[in-house]
Amino acid sequence: MSNTERPPVVDWATDFDHTHPDYGQNAPEIWDELRATCPVAHTERFGGTWLPVTHEAVSAIAHDTENYTSMGVVVSENKPEIPAPMGFAPPITSDPPFHAIARRLLLEPFAPKPVKALEQYTRDCCNGLIDDILASGSDLTDAATEYAQHIPVRIIAKMLGVPETDGDKFRRFIHQIIETPGADTVDEDGGGSFDEYLDAAIAEHRANPKPPGEGDLIDHLTQADIEGTPLLDEHVRGTIALLLIAGIDTTWSSIGAALWHLASHPEDRARYTNEPEIRLFAIEEFLRFYAPVTMARIAVTDHELGGCPVKAGDWLLLPFPAANRDPEAFDDADKFIIDRQQNRHGAFGLGIHRCLGSNLARMELAVAIDTWTERIPDFELSDPDAVRWSVGQIRGPRELPVRINLDTVNR
Ligand code: HEM
Repeated sequence: MSNTERPPVVDWATDFDHTHPDYGQNAPEIWDELRATCPVAHTERFGGTWLPVTHEAVSAIAHDTENYTSMGVVVSENKPEIPAPMGFAPPITSDPPFHAIARRLLLEPFAPKPVKALEQYTRDCCNGLIDDILASGSDLTDAATEYAQHIPVRIIAKMLGVPETDGDKFRRFIHQIIETPGADTVDEDGGGSFDEYLDAAIAEHRANPKPPGEGDLIDHLTQADIEGTPLLDEHVRGTIALLLIAGIDTTWSSIGAALWHLASHPEDRARYTNEPEIRLFAIEEFLRFYAPVTMARIAVTDHELGGCPVKAGDWLLLPFPAANRDPEAFDDADKFIIDRQQNRHGAFGLGIHRCLGSNLARMELAVAIDTWTERIPDFELSDPDAVRWSVGQIRGPRELPVRINLDTVNR
């Protein structure tokens, strides 16, 4: 069933549907209403799913690995088939104690120093995209499809050591995986499936290993071991799939949401451009206010949650964006404050699965917004009704038409 055909939601407390277009458009209002009336909402959809909306409940579930498993992190009609502790895409689908082992393998490539080394490449990439936009001569462009969406794909392709030109292919695969979890992927270009693509890349890296310290992320994984045993191919494949899925739509959404905000709030746009000293705070506030990621868990025990009877096998959504708007956790939670000083937001998660790519995501977001505002300081939404936000667990603008004031651009 496509999202536009979802049955209407009559009551968000007892029949919510996070994949319904109305949720995509009105999520913050729905969370506010639920927080005041029914802080743990329920739906029979997807085989039974719970939606807690307070910071306290989201945080408690994210830290509780006794009552919940991560083997399913994207809610769907089908339960995942690859069991914990490894799951389909380690470490995000892994449970303790294997989770810590799988996570540790990735700490080094996403540490601050290697991420810093990618900053100039990211800036060049952003400038190249803006050169293309300005070369068109038009004052109209789509900041989501012509700019934001290309940045994370290019950076992760470079890190993995696969061709940047495969970016469109990755996006197609990712959307198939997110929209129809569990189904086989097919490349519309007539190539093989996602698994076949990844297997070929792994085989190529295993056949031609690069010397230690000189390789890319796939070399890092194919040369890694767990207590002397090389990683299974399915582990390497699942982790690469995770990095593509976790790294692309999330960061695309954050860059797009920040540009949407600046296009529609001229005072904040002027402050971001003219007061570089507030930019670090602004990036954190973009992440808090427009947090793109909601994750899921599956209950493994029958238990109570906020007085509600959760059954083993039920899905639970963890809406980190709703936690970020909880007035119990933030002063003026419903206001975007561009230089907010206290901002311990949960955009990157709150428990043991806290985002491993947060250094990279922050760098990409900051470089993307700095470069855009330096080159294109004055822009606005050209058609606010044509802005289209995604639905489901990753929220951000997928179409973002803007008008650029060409008199002010830096070519
Ligand atoms: C603004 C961009 C991003 C946001 C908001 C974000 C958000 C999140 C969240 C909320 C989680 C935790 C999920 C949970 O508790 O179940 C997570 C986990 C993860 N993220 Fe990100 N992410 C972003 C970008 C990235 C990037 C660029 C990468 C790497 C390419 C990445 C890699 C990961 C990985 C590997 C995990 C799993 C960690 C674990 O299971 O221990 N993320 N992310």
